[in-house]
Amino acid sequence: MQMKTKVLGVGYCLPDKILSNHDLEKMVDTDNEWIIERTGIRERRIVEPGGKNSDLSVEAARRALQDAKIDPLQLDLIILATASPDMPFPSTACIVQALLGAKNAAAFDLAAGCTGFVYALTVAEKFLLSPEVNNILVIGCDVVSSVIDYTDRNTCILFGDGAGAMVLGKSEGECGILSTSIGADGTGAGLLYMPAGGSALPATHETVEKRLHYLRMNGNEIFKFATKIVAQTTAELLSKAGLTYDDIDLFVPHQANLRIIQSAMRRMKLPPEKVAINLDLCGNISAGSIPVALAQHNEKHPIKNGANILMVAFGTGLTYGGAILRWGRD
Ligand SMILES: CC(C)(COP(=O)(O)OP(=O)(O)OC[C@H]1O[C@@H](n2cnc3c(N)ncnc32)[C@H](O)[C@@H]1OP(=O)(O)O)[C@@H](O)C(=O)NCCC(=O)NCCS
Repeated sequence: MQMKTKVLGVGYCLPDKILSNHDLEKMVDTDNEWIIERTGIRERRIVEPGGKNSDLSVEAARRALQDAKIDPLQLDLIILATASPDMPFPSTACIVQALLGAKNAAAFDLAAGCTGFVYALTVAEKFLLSPEVNNILVIGCDVVSSVIDYTDRNTCILFGDGAGAMVLGKSEGECGILSTSIGADGTGAGLLYMPAGGSALPATHETVEKRLHYLRMNGNEIFKFATKIVAQTTAELLSKAGLTYDDIDLFVPHQANLRIIQSAMRRMKLPPEKVAINLDLCGNISAGSIPVALAQHNEKHPIKNGANILMVAFGTGLTYGGAILRWGRD
């Protein structure tokens, strides 16, 4: 039997503070009805001032390790997918490694924006082919509020903060990752970016005054890209796994916009009970989006052994990708 990558445990952590559409009405020229109709979002969670990526990541990781019944010392690798690390360096994965006491684990951050979690899953699957690697912690976490311009109504309504984590191990059974697919189109790099703070435009008083340390986005172009790429990635994942739409038991899409999710549901003829949606209460958590949605869904409706789970994401880069996972710990 071929070795597969299986899920040993999942966990998530959201900040306590709620930022509702009504709160945003007081900050920018927007209204609750517009946001709900155009995005499906009602509220999102954001950290209090001083709250940071590693706070959320460590808590999500501890919950996933507890769920997996794995000691941090058993971890060989930590991959933290994020676009909003604690600081440019060291990697937040190293900070998390120290906080967990996972001293046997190598650790690095992975930058693929909202696609970060499925990129990290794909990388972890390859590492687990090595006889030297047995347990990997994958975290998707973003504190998007740290790079949001709360005077820009085009972006500030969309995003929230949070972390989701998954502990992965090896399986020779039927369960585990059935297929993965990742890709990028760097010609779209200018559609979602933060202009300053990197080597191209280091921080100066001027960059701060011009508000260049905030996320900028062309929402319409990303919307068009997203609907197309979700369809294309889904078809590729199903074909690699030898499955059809009918075999999908749970769809966990990137939680960017309800209209993008509904267009995929219509194509696949998926009923609402087969789709994990949390964007009404969380907004778009970027790299945290899929792992938080999956862990929350499993908490409310425990996923049955053998269920086929489809995950698909897209994000800055532009990046895209996904995975099909057969749930179960055998
Ligand atoms: C951002 C997004 C919600 C905008 O929705 P849309 O239906 O495309 O709306 P448009 O951008 O065409 O704007 C329509 C109008 O609403 C206005 N508008 C934009 N944001 C608004 C807000 N928060 N409140 C009220 N009106 C708003 C626009 O200014 C525009 O007004 P105009 O017609 O007078 O120029 C949508 O494009 C989207 O979700 N895109 C994908 C973004 C994404 O997923 N990013 C993350 C990728 S990981």
